[in-house]
Amino acid sequence: MHVATILIPVILATSAASESWSLVPTFKSFFQEQSDNMKTFVTTSYNDAIKMKDSVDNYVEEQQKVISDHFNNYIEDIKQKGRDAADPYFPGDADALLDNPDVVLSVPGIITRNGYICETHTVISQGYVLNIHRIPHSKIRNIVPSKTVLLQHGLFASSADWIMNGPGKGLAYVLSDTGYDVWMTNIRGNRYSKHHTTYKTDSKAYWNFSWHDVAAYDVPKIIDYILSMKGTNTKIAYIGHSMGTTILFAMLAVRPEYNEILTAGLALAPVVYLSDMKSPLKSMAPIANNLAYLDMLQGNYEFIPKNSALGKISSTCNGDNMDSLICKNVVFYLCGFNERQFNKTLLPVFLAHLGTGTSWKTAVHFSQEILSGKFQQFDYGYLKNKKIYGTASPPEYDLSKVTLPIKLFWSKNDLLSSEKDVLSLYDELPSKPDMFLVPDEMFNHLDYLWAIDAPRLLNNEVVDSVNRYMNNFWFDIKF
Ligand SMILES: *[C@@H]1O[C@H](CO)[C@@H](O)[C@H](O)[C@H]1NC(C)=O
Ligand SMILES: *[C@@H]1O[C@H](CO)[C@@H](O)[C@H](O)[C@H]1NC(C)=O
Repeated sequence: MHVATILIPVILATSAASESWSLVPTFKSFFQEQSDNMKTFVTTSYNDAIKMKDSVDNYVEEQQKVISDHFNNYIEDIKQKGRDAADPYFPGDADALLDNPDVVLSVPGIITRNGYICETHTVISQGYVLNIHRIPHSKIRNIVPSKTVLLQHGLFASSADWIMNGPGKGLAYVLSDTGYDVWMTNIRGNRYSKHHTTYKTDSKAYWNFSWHDVAAYDVPKIIDYILSMKGTNTKIAYIGHSMGTTILFAMLAVRPEYNEILTAGLALAPVVYLSDMKSPLKSMAPIANNLAYLDMLQGNYEFIPKNSALGKISSTCNGDNMDSLICKNVVFYLCGFNERQFNKTLLPVFLAHLGTGTSWKTAVHFSQEILSGKFQQFDYGYLKNKKIYGTASPPEYDLSKVTLPIKLFWSKNDLLSSEKDVLSLYDELPSKPDMFLVPDEMFNHLDYLWAIDAPRLLNNEVVDSVNRYMNNFWFDIKF
């Protein structure tokens, strides 16, 4: 999970779960210190920072070494004291990693292994070769249902999000069992949609996109493709998680015709307004913003590729070793940890499928949302905004255009999608969407994908809602 890597300085800053971690005090002060260093570092202006390129590199190397030393000490300590005592998340022996083939299989492999059919469909949008995974019908029926759901994953993720929790729990399987034709997108730049018809994947032009482009071009193209295959009367419900919801609302604002084309939109853990975000990510936004920008200027366009400034800081966290697992635990600190809902047996599968690349522009675009409190297009700065948008500031997404029936699913312990921000979104939507508060105080941002009790807490409600929207002719009447 690359997002984890920018957060190394704050990993242990705030967490109840970390109390059981024997080295917490050491780490806590260490990361506090690093975080302060970082802050000092980024207060330097861009221009100075560029001039300082050499010192940036030195800085990064130093950081890398310090972090690596600390992790090595940590590993040593674990070896002496016993791993389980030190790491509450590690599921036992490292060999267990390969006990479950889902760790190494791709999405179609996993789906097929579980006895479902999986098709891969390819759609080309602005030259990006997008691969969509589809479970066309349930295990027991051989007929492809007309009713269709389109599942859009979140940041640093893929179609794997919807199946990692396994049959009976992963939403893709559940919706298939219920009688839906299930399509799972993979956004441009992720591991399943890496190619482009003309750009090389290490070129600046290739990575010159944010979720705005996915919303404005790719998802509409995919919906058009499904309609062309299945007929224009096909009812499609869109279900998005996290950034998948950002994409939904941006699309409904800039391509309002899709309000008529889709049947409903379900937003799991909506990420539209981010000003009240509780995650440590918030305090890192300015840093991520600056470092990603620096990376871009230095010619690294994929967010956190290995040899970028951020990548170097985080390279101690790469590789199939303990370090990697420890580093990836950061995800819990980022998104909240809900021990009761977390199935440790599946950790290796989650870790294997999380963390696929995205563009620096996506990261910066989110940082801008956090800092500005606005839901708006990419901010290029005054001059370039003038040139591109004709205005000094980027245009805001006009949520008054969203007329599609919407349901917002939210939870109290979601560090990325706070109650206040969800309610702001509710207020901005003219149709006054349906709301569902997940009945678990501890339910967090990623529990939507992997909660042990997903069927009881979430899936039943999702399935009921989709069924209702699909069968409700009332919505066909436009006032
Ligand atoms: C990136 O996209 C922006 C906005 O569409 C454009 O102005 C700029 O020239 C593009 N840069 C590259 C390198 O393609
Ligand atoms: C955790 O996942 C494993 C593997 O899929 C499964 O066998 C087990 O029942 C799950 N545990 C719980 C508590 O759901």
